[in-house]
Amino acid sequence: MTGNPPSASPTMVRLARYTETELQEILGDGDDPFGVAEAGLAWLPKEDHFGIRSDGRLMAHAGLLVLPVSIGGVETKVVGLGGVAVAPDVRGRGLARRVVTAALAHARTLGPRYGLLFCRPPLVPLYQRLGWHALSQDVQVEQPEGPVVMPLRTMWTPLHDDASAPEGAVRLLSLPM
Ligand SMILES: CC(C)(COP(=O)(O)OP(=O)(O)OC[C@H]1O[C@@H](n2cnc3c(N)ncnc32)[C@H](O)[C@@H]1OP(=O)(O)O)[C@@H](O)C(=O)NCCC(=O)NCCS
Repeated sequence: MTGNPPSASPTMVRLARYTETELQEILGDGDDPFGVAEAGLAWLPKEDHFGIRSDGRLMAHAGLLVLPVSIGGVETKVVGLGGVAVAPDVRGRGLARRVVTAALAHARTLGPRYGLLFCRPPLVPLYQRLGWHALSQDVQVEQPEGPVVMPLRTMWTPLHDDASAPEGAVRLLSLPM
């Protein structure tokens, strides 16, 4: 028999590591792949990494990190979602939805009531399609020089059935993810 075997369909995988190499495999080596350099922020790497592979190629990623937060003056934890990325040639096919859905299924097992993400304003409608809600209040985050108001949009999603919108001031007690 001749010819190539049929391509494998995209498969969800838990990634043991996610470094600059894996990020570049998805987004290439541009110097601002997430379009957030202008914000001038320091970020934390994520702890749990979810990916989509097809024929050995990594095509999508979403990362999670549990972080301390103060909501209405009460200290608790949130699951931060970040590093959401899909290779440019396979966008618009639902891969971000799939990889974020897989990450959130795991986030629901981690304990916190909320997932939190930061994004550029044009991505708010996309995340709304995925079940996230824009926070109306300003959010403070830590930076090496001290707390600052997050210049990007902050969105939240419930991780427990009974989690209603976070009320009061939201302050991340760490660098953002
Ligand atoms: C943002 C990004 C991850 C989206 O990936 P994608 O695979 O094209 O997204 P999907 O195809 O899964 O789309 C997700 C949903 O958002 C919807 N959507 C996409 N663009 C939209 C828009 N501008 N407005 C409203 N909804 C939109 C899609 O229709 C889909 O909804 P559906 O599943 O109900 O049809 C991708 O463009 C990317 O990697 N960009 C560069 C890195 C980046 O900016 N990451 C975000 C960091 S916060």
